Formats: sequence, structure tokens, C-alpha cells
Amino acid sequence: MPKQKKTNITAENSAAKNKRQVTNSDPIGIFDSGVGGLSIAQCIHQQLPHENLLYVADTLHAPYGDKSTEFIQQRVNEIAQWFIERSAKAIVVACNTATVNAIDQLRNNISIPVIGVEPAIKPAASLSKNKKVAILVTKATAENQRFLALVAQYRHISDVIIQPCPGLVELIERNENNSAECELLLSAYLQPLLDKGVDTIVLGCTHYPLVKGLIKKICGNHVVIMETALPVTEQLQRQLTRNNLINSSTNKGTSSFYSSKHGDIQQALFNHIWQQPLQLNSYP
Ligand code: DGL
Repeated sequence: MPKQKKTNITAENSAAKNKRQVTNSDPIGIFDSGVGGLSIAQCIHQQLPHENLLYVADTLHAPYGDKSTEFIQQRVNEIAQWFIERSAKAIVVACNTATVNAIDQLRNNISIPVIGVEPAIKPAASLSKNKKVAILVTKATAENQRFLALVAQYRHISDVIIQPCPGLVELIERNENNSAECELLLSAYLQPLLDKGVDTIVLGCTHYPLVKGLIKKICGNHVVIMETALPVTEQLQRQLTRNNLINSSTNKGTSSFYSSKHGDIQQALFNHIWQQPLQLNSYP
């Protein structure tokens, strides 16, 4: 693991932040360990077209899924600080792993709304005919107490199998989400779940919608796949409305993209996922 400079949002920074007045034209900061959060950013862009978006991919430190809580919290604090310096009016933690490991301490440290990703276990548990749900997650999410407590809430409605998927985020970040290797890895995770009668699969990592086509191919049409981009966007909209922060401009909002690892693969991935050529800037 790379040596990490400890970056905390200090009480001083936090106090300074409390004094700063955010305006409704300020941007929304969205981040993930990589391109996974683009699935959330896309939905926000579609549903709230007048909002200005700043997207950060912390690709240099991806995957978060095999890192410690302390490391993830340091990354989250550093990125949040960067957003605050750019006058963000709200932050979307577009990453399940970062949400379960770092959102509580982040909310304690900053005063702007912080929206996290919550996997759709509740609707999945209600929907499942066999009462057999699986949730695909990173290793760090699978081991997290906050996440395990969330799953426990729904075990009386349905069996919920937690399936960690190490290696998958790395393949997606290498733009190999349609490769034979990716299909093989996914089959190794999915086939045992299908054999147990799982009929509903929750995507508990924002990277996984990027391999939804392959998941469908392996599972077949009878398996329902649940994503979280829309509920996260709706929660953001509610928070902005409550805080009087919906952008009142009628102009189309701007979207700016940053990555802590900047190369041809990242540029191609961003263009592909965003479905148009974009300028990928260096973070920080
Ligand atoms: N996309 C992320 C998530 O939702 C992070 C995955 C990772 O970096 O391991 O968990």
C-alpha cells in the first residue's frame, strides 16, 4: 500500500467552512476510487441538468476495496477538502466502500450535505420471489460493521448472501470489462449464487453497473439486478431542496472531470462511459 500523508479535515478548516456561505450555483462534488461513480454522476447529470458537477476519480489509489478503513478515511478527507476549496455546496460519496468506511466521520467534520450510496437491499429483499438475494461488494465493504448491520436489518425478509468480488474493480479500471477474463471471474462469483437459487442481485459497488451486461449474460433474464444511481440522485435532490441549494439557473450545468491517475486508459474509459469526449484533468 502506498505511504499516505495523513490528511484530516481539521477543526480549523471545519470552522472556516461553517462560515463560508454556499450559493446554489456552486458545484456538487462527486467522487469514487475510479470510474465507478460515473454511473451516479451520469444519473445526477440527467435528473438535475442545471447543476455544475465536479467529479474526482482517485484512480491512483484504486481499488479502495482492499484498503484499510484508516486509509480510506484519509483519502475521503483529502478529496472532500479539495471540493470544499472549490466551493462545493454538497458532496456525493459515489462509492459504497467509502460510504461505509468514512461517511460518518466526514459528516461530523463538514457542514455541507454529504450524500452516500446505500445498496438497494430493502427493495431487493421485498422483491425476491425465492427470498434469496445476493449482494456483490468489495472486500472492504463485506467486512465493514456498518454494512453488516444494514444487511442484518433485512434478514427477516429474505436470505441475503454477501458476495465479495476481488479483482473486478481492477479489470474495470483497466478497461477490460468485456474481456474473457472478466467473464470468467464474474462467473466464478455468480454461478454458486445461481446454484443456491438467488433470483435478485444487488450491485453493492458503483463499479459493477459497468459490467451489468456481462452479469445479465451469465445470470439470464430471470434474475433481477438492482442499482442505486437513481435513489442516490433523489436523495441528493431532497437534500439540496431542503437546504435551498437547487441551482436556479436555467442554463445547462457544466461537468468537470479529474483523476489522480491520468493516462490514455483513463481518458478512453471516461470518454466511453460519459459517451462523449471530455477533458480529463489531473487531481489534485
Ligand atoms: N466503486 C467503489 C465502491 O462502490 C469502489 C471500489 C473499489 O475501489 O474497490 O465500492
